[in-house]
This record gives sequence, C-alpha cells and structure tokens, in this order.
Amino acid sequence: MTATAIANAAYIAAALLFIMSLAGLSKHETGSTGVRYGMAGMTIAMVATIWLSLSGEWTDSSTIGLILLVVALIAGAVIGLWRAKVVAMTGMPELIALFHSFVGLTAVLVGWNGALHSGDLAPELVGVHRAEVFIGVFIGAVTFTGSIVAYLKLSAKISSKPLILPGRNFLNLFALVGFIALTVAYVITPELGLLIAVTALALALGWHLVASIGGGDMPVVVSMLNSYSGWAAAATGFLLGNDLLIVTGALVGSSGAYLSYIMCKAMNRSFVSVIFGGYGIEAPSETEEETGEYTEIDAASVAELLKSAKTVVITPGYGMAVAQAQYPVAELAKRLREKGVEVRFGIHPVAGRLPGHMNVLLAEAKVPYDIVLEMDEINDDLASTNVVLVIGANDTVNPAATENPTSPIAGMPVLKVWEAENVIVFKRSMASGYAGVANPLFFKPNAKMLFGDAKDRVSDILKAL
Ligand code: TAP
Repeated sequence: MTATAIANAAYIAAALLFIMSLAGLSKHETGSTGVRYGMAGMTIAMVATIWLSLSGEWTDSSTIGLILLVVALIAGAVIGLWRAKVVAMTGMPELIALFHSFVGLTAVLVGWNGALHSGDLAPELVGVHRAEVFIGVFIGAVTFTGSIVAYLKLSAKISSKPLILPGRNFLNLFALVGFIALTVAYVITPELGLLIAVTALALALGWHLVASIGGGDMPVVVSMLNSYSGWAAAATGFLLGNDLLIVTGALVGSSGAYLSYIMCKAMNRSFVSVIFGGYGIEAPSETEEETGEYTEIDAASVAELLKSAKTVVITPGYGMAVAQAQYPVAELAKRLREKGVEVRFGIHPVAGRLPGHMNVLLAEAKVPYDIVLEMDEINDDLASTNVVLVIGANDTVNPAATENPTSPIAGMPVLKVWEAENVIVFKRSMASGYAGVANPLFFKPNAKMLFGDAKDRVSDILKAL
C-alpha cells in the first residue's frame, strides 16, 4: 500500500471523528466527549500529514517539507496555547473572528500558489483548476477582511455602527457580478492582472459586507464568517487535492451556516439581509433614553423574598460573565433547592457574547443540566414564577422588543421576565446593554434594582440566607 493510500484512510477516520465531534457538541451532556473526538481527529490528521510529507510521495524534498511543518506546528502551537490561556471568556468572539481571518488568508495564499505553480494538468482540467483558484481566492479574501472588521468592531477598536454607503446594495451586487466576469475571463486567459483584480475586489467586498452590519448583529456575523472560513478551507482542499480539507471545510461551512440561521431566528433578523451585508436594513434612528421611577432593593431583602418563594428562575447575561458570578450563583441555586424552592435557569440564545456562553459558565460551576432551560422551554412558565433574578442580563430581557415596534430590537424574542411576580435586576448602574437600547423593564412596578457587582451582590444574598 502506498503512503498516500494509508494517509487517505487516516483522513477518512479523522473525518468520521469530526462528524462525531459535531454530534457530541450538540448536547450539554456529550459536549466534552465531542471535544475529545475533535482532538483525536485533528491528531490523526496531523500525524498522517506529517508522515505523508516524510514519505517523499507528497513533495520532492521531504526534508524541506518536514522543516516547514515542524516550524509551522511549533509556531502555531505556541501562539494558540498562549492565546487560549490569556483570553478572557468575554474576549472569545473577537479571538474567533481573528482566527477566521487566518483561514481566509491561507485560502488566498494557497489560491495564489495554485495560480503561480499549477504543475502539469490534463488539458480538460486546466479550466476547472483556474476556476478553483478564483473561487478559493475570492472566498478567502472576503473572509479575511470581513473577519478583521468583525475583530475591530467586537474589540471596540472601531465604531460598531453600520457603515451606510450610498447604493451599498448595488456595490455588493456589482462586486459579485465583477467576480463572475473576472472568473470567466481568467478561465479563458489566465492573466496575472485578473488575479490581482479579483483579490482586490474580494478584499474590498469583505470589508464592506461586515462594515455595513451594526454591532447588534455581530454574533450572527461571526458565525457567518465561521461558515465562510469553512468554505474557504474546502476551496483550499480542492486546490491541494486534499479530501480531508474538503470534508472538514464543508462541515464547518454548513454547521456555521446553520448556526447563523438559528441565531437570526433567535434575534428576529433576516438571514438573507445579514449575509448580504445588511441588505434592506435602514440606518438606525437615535433612541430616546427611557426614564422613569425605579425602585432599589438590598441583598438582605432579596434573601427574604427568596426564602418565601416557591419558584425561582435565574436569567443570566453578559454581566454574570464579567463579574465571574457563576460560582456564587450556582451556590445560591443549590442552597435554595435544598430549602425546597424550585430553581431553574432560563438561557437566551444570544445571552453573553458567544453562542452557549452562559451554558459554559454554568457547566463550569457544576449547575445540573436538567435545570438549565432554553428560552422557549421556560418563557411560558415565567408568568407563574414568584421571583426572577436577572443577573447581568439586559437586551435579552428587554420588553421593548415586544412592546415597542420602533425599538431597534423590535421583534427579537426575549425572556418575558416582567410577567413574573417579582423581578430583581442585578447590575451596576442604569446603563444600557450591548445593543445600546434603553430598557423599560427597570421601571416596571414589579421590578427592583440590586446595584453593584453581580458576584458581590449574590455573595451578600448567600450570607443573608
Ligand atoms: P447585555 O445586554 O450586554 O447587558 C449586560 C448587562 O450586564 C449590562 O446592562 C451591564 O450593566 C451588566 N453588567 C456588566 N458587568 C456587570 C457586573 N460586573 N455586575 C453586574 N452587572 C454587570 O447582556 P445580555 O442580556 O446577555 O445580551 C447579550 C447582548 O450581546 C445581546 O444584545 C446580543 O445580541 C449581544 N451579543 C451576543 C453574542 C452571543 S452569540 N451571545 C455575541 C456578541 C454580542 P451595568 O454596566 O450597569 O452593570
């Protein structure tokens, strides 16, 4: 058996492990097994690739291949380990956006390499190869600049407001038509100028697509760029003739697209509008600050309220992550359950700053999975709940989404916490949340504000209990 055949068999095993990994990641209980399958798949893929390179079947000079691989592996592993160690959980979205930009850049470089060193191809494959080069470079360049803009917006290095250029939908359409025309021209005559033109066009399109989308829709954009990076990897796989890259790219591409669709539904955004750079979205009007009388409460009174409650629902949000309040929150849930109170958690699909953010934090603090419910599973029960504790959540519990059709978040499904008998809002000030929209929940007669850092306040309640 040749080295290539053995490596291909290993690639099939790795691809199966990646599929099992995705299946595992779709449930809390099997999440960590899913991660292990993914790690095993990646190890098999890397060992097979290194071995293939050593065998000399893949490259003419196995020593150069090996040196390049080792250097790339060490550099990648050191940077990856360092970033993973120092990144705060709340900084994950921008880190992920930055990682996607590398996948995009790789696809561009592999595309250029494929154009400059096309090797000996059968005449009937030459046209296909040229089209592959253009598709790979196009998707890669859009992913590259799109991800950089997403990174800059998420890390607040540039404004998160949407860029509204005159005729922006026309500009995007023009870029798409331009890409098709350039591809056809390149398949007929492979001029270097055409390759430069398509690269520049795609870099500009990626920048414009993401710049046109407002900060509120960034979660969907990151998941969409995840999908694009998958398609970029698949295109690279076609160029390199690597089946594993094609399969893995398609898995990332399709799962990312599906996640974007689910998130669009959760935020009541149009999927088509988001993938076409905010197509059909009007420039947001400045929102008026919501004012009114609000009532404050202290930790001891919240403890009293909780002691007499039969049902309690906790709806965490980004502030719980900032305060790292998940441990005292888990302890509070445990204590109340020991006292016979029914405690459940209600998780909004975009609570926090990345998909599953709250689930990860609660799992870390060992909150049992069976009391952590999704928004749709708990929303109808909120009206019959005695106390809802809103811990660092804001946009995801904002009644304006259902009550005010002119609100920038109008139509976004939210946790209807205001329907409960009592709502306690844990936050440090009256500031708005991520979307910058005022929250009328704070002024509802059944709502009370518990000001301060969420971790400190939950610990105070624990002491009072
Ligand atoms: P947000 O609307 O972002 O509100 C978080 C609240 O936490 C703020 O009102 C803040 O108020 C409070 N807070 C911050 N630090 C705190 C601390 N140490 N102690 C107590 N409170 C603290 O949160 P959310 O309800 O989770 O909504 C998420 C938002 O992020 C949505 O708009 C969503 O679209 C967006 N987003 C989501 C994702 C994903 S995929 N989940 C990714 C990017 C963006 P104070 O400053 O007054 O304390």
